[in-house]
Amino acid sequence: MLTTAPRGTSDIMPAEVKTWRYLEKIIRKICSLYGYKEIRTPVFEHTELFLRSIGETTDVVEKEMYTFLDRGERSITLRPENTASVARAYIENKLYSEQPPVKLFYIGPMFRYDRPQAGRYRQFHQFGIEALGAPGPNIDAEIILLAVQVLETLGLENLKLKINSVGCPRCRPVYRKKLQEFFWSHLKEMCIDCKSRFDRNPMRLLDCKKCHDMAAGAPSIEENLCNECREHFVGLKELLTAAGVSYEVDNSLVRGLDYYTKTAFEIQYSPLGTQSAVCGGGRYDGLIEQVGGDPTPAIGFAMGMERLLLALEKQKLLPEFDENIDVFVVCPKEETFKTAFATVNNLRKAGLKVDHDCLGKSMKSQMKQANKLRAKYAIIFGDDEFSRGMVVLRNMESSEQKETPFNDITAILQSEVRKND
Ligand code: HAM
Repeated sequence: MLTTAPRGTSDIMPAEVKTWRYLEKIIRKICSLYGYKEIRTPVFEHTELFLRSIGETTDVVEKEMYTFLDRGERSITLRPENTASVARAYIENKLYSEQPPVKLFYIGPMFRYDRPQAGRYRQFHQFGIEALGAPGPNIDAEIILLAVQVLETLGLENLKLKINSVGCPRCRPVYRKKLQEFFWSHLKEMCIDCKSRFDRNPMRLLDCKKCHDMAAGAPSIEENLCNECREHFVGLKELLTAAGVSYEVDNSLVRGLDYYTKTAFEIQYSPLGTQSAVCGGGRYDGLIEQVGGDPTPAIGFAMGMERLLLALEKQKLLPEFDENIDVFVVCPKEETFKTAFATVNNLRKAGLKVDHDCLGKSMKSQMKQANKLRAKYAIIFGDDEFSRGMVVLRNMESSEQKETPFNDITAILQSEVRKND
C-alpha cells in the first residue's frame, strides 16, 4: 500500500508532463484569443457550497464527494468540479462590479469517488470556462466555438457536438409533470436509480443507459419550452449554423448536475467508448443567486484533460518532443573536476542546457551518457590539453572534434548553439 497511489489516482511522469504542457499551452493560447482570464480557486471548499449548487440528489453529491471534517470540525469537500467554486469566487471577489461578461478559465485537479476505469478517475483534471453576466445565446455559441477550436487545434476528428435545452424554473416543472405521467406505467421495470429519480428528477430518466428503451416516445423538452427558452435555443442553433459548426439536437441530453438551465451540451469522441464525453457544459442562470449572489446569467463547460490525452493518443496526434541538451561536460579526472563543475555552471548561466556526470564515472561511461542525453556538443577536460589551457570540443553529431582555448568555450558554444537553433 505504501508504494501504490490511491485507486483512481496516478502519477504524471516527466515524459507525460510534456504532453500536458503541450495541451495546456494550446488551451491558454485559445483562451487568450477569446478574452478568457485564468482563475485559480482552492481545491477544497465548504461542503455546503456543493450541496447548494450541484444539487443534493445528484450522483456527484450523493455518492462521489470526498468529504471530511477538518480539525476545526468544519465539513470540507475536495472539489468535484469547479463551477460552484467560480460562482463563490465571483461573489466573494465582487467580480460582478466588472463589465460583464466576466470571462474566466481554469485548469486543475478535481476529485470524485467514481468507479475507476479508462477515462474515469478519482483524481482527474479539467480545463473549464465560465462566462458570467451575459444572458443571450451569443455567449453560449461563443463558448461552444471555443471548445470546438481547442479540440480542432489539437487535431481531433470525428467529434460529435450534442446540444439541448433543459428549460428554466418556469417551463421545467410543467415538463417534469408530463414526464412523470409518461413514466408512471413503467415504474416497476425501472432500475433502482431511476426509481429514486422518478420523484426527485424525472428528467434524468431520459438519459439512463439501462432504461433507454423505456424512454422511447417520451414527451420532448423542446416541445415544452416556454417562449423565452425556445427563442434562446433557436438563437443558439442559428449562431452555430452561421459559424459553420455542425451539431445534433439531442433532447435526452440532461447532464448530471442540477444547476443547468436552458442550454446544455456535450462533445463526444466515440472511440473512447463509455467515457466518450470529452466536454460537457451548459447555462446555469440560477446558480449565483443560489449560492448567495444577485441573479446572474452564466454559462460554462469543462473538458476532461485525461480524456483529451487518451483521444490524442488514439489518433496518434501527440507531437514528438525534442529532449536533447546542448552540452555535456566530460571530466574523468578529479584534478580538473572543480574547474569543470564551474564551467557547467557558467554555461547554464549563459543560457545553455548542460549536464555532467555526478557519479565519478569513467571517460567511456561519460561519453555514453552524453550520447544518451543526445547532447549536441561535448567538452572534454583531458589532462594534456588542460595543462595547455585547452579543452576538446566535440560535435556529437558529426564526431568532429578540435582543441579549443578553455577561456573561449562559453562564447563559442553560445554562438554555435544559437546558429543551429
Ligand atoms: P461534468 O460533465 O461533470 O461537468 O464534467 C466535465 C468533463 O469532465 C466530462 O465531460 C469529462 O470529460 C470530465 N470528467 C468528469 N468526471 C471525470 C472523471 N471521474 N474522470 C475523468 N474525467 C472526468 C462539470 O464538471 C461542470 N462543472 C462543467 C461546467 C462548467 N458546466 C458549466 N460550467
